[in-house]
Amino acid sequence: MNRTMEELRDFATTISHQLRNPLASAKTRLEVLLTEDLPDNVKIEMEKIKHNIDRMVEITSQLLLIARTQHTSAKNFEEEDLSSLILESIDQVSQKYNNKEFLIDSIKEIKVKCVGPLLIHAFANLLDNACKYSSSEKPITLHVEESGETVKVEVCNYGDPIPEQDRDKIFLKFFRSSNARTEGFGLGLAVVKAIADLHRAQVYYECEDGVNKFVMILPK
Ligand SMILES: Nc1ncnc2c1ncn2[C@@H]1O[C@H](COP(=O)(O)OP(=O)(O)OP(=O)(O)O)[C@@H](O)[C@H]1O
Ligand SMILES: [Mg+2]
Repeated sequence: MNRTMEELRDFATTISHQLRNPLASAKTRLEVLLTEDLPDNVKIEMEKIKHNIDRMVEITSQLLLIARTQHTSAKNFEEEDLSSLILESIDQVSQKYNNKEFLIDSIKEIKVKCVGPLLIHAFANLLDNACKYSSSEKPITLHVEESGETVKVEVCNYGDPIPEQDRDKIFLKFFRSSNARTEGFGLGLAVVKAIADLHRAQVYYECEDGVNKFVMILPK
């Protein structure tokens, strides 16, 4: 990697680190002030400021997660059961979208060498997107398929396809496509990509008959 890229990465990490404490302190101060007897219009404005602080905290923690992933190595890998990691990620996401149904076609033990909590995070981000961009009542489906030295995980949802011209940009930081109509930062897939790269996994998007499909192919 060239020096400029290294410097940019370090810069983003440093900024994120440096922002964390002042943001946390600003939020605490606001929360204390919000307990005071203040006019409603002031409280409404303060709630908006708090919401924006929460957004900044979320952005900095996603950027730090990407940086941490890029500084992790295969030395930190442990053998884990992939199905358990996937089930854990479904558990996390279903708490947020509690009326969404998830269907998984295979739940057998598959050992992979990985950083378990990071893989859970990557699957959770894909599932979060599948719920967020799902345009029907149909369930989110997951397929897991082992073949030789790899295992393929697919996360599928019905919804508007990502326009062709945007498909090579969706894994970049802060990119959101025109099919996104809800809130977001455009960081979820950048996190997925960083985690996939750490595991030497391939990750890509394809669209078939109104089904949005994200595929991750992991070496065992
Ligand atoms: N399952 C999906 N179905 C349709 N479009 C998707 C799907 N997943 C991602 N996208 C598109 O790719 C873009 C990038 O996704 P990404 O997860 O990085 O960001 P986000 O969901 O917009 O925000 P964040 O994840 O940071 O809250 C989305 O804005 C959306 O346009
Ligand atoms: Mg997302």
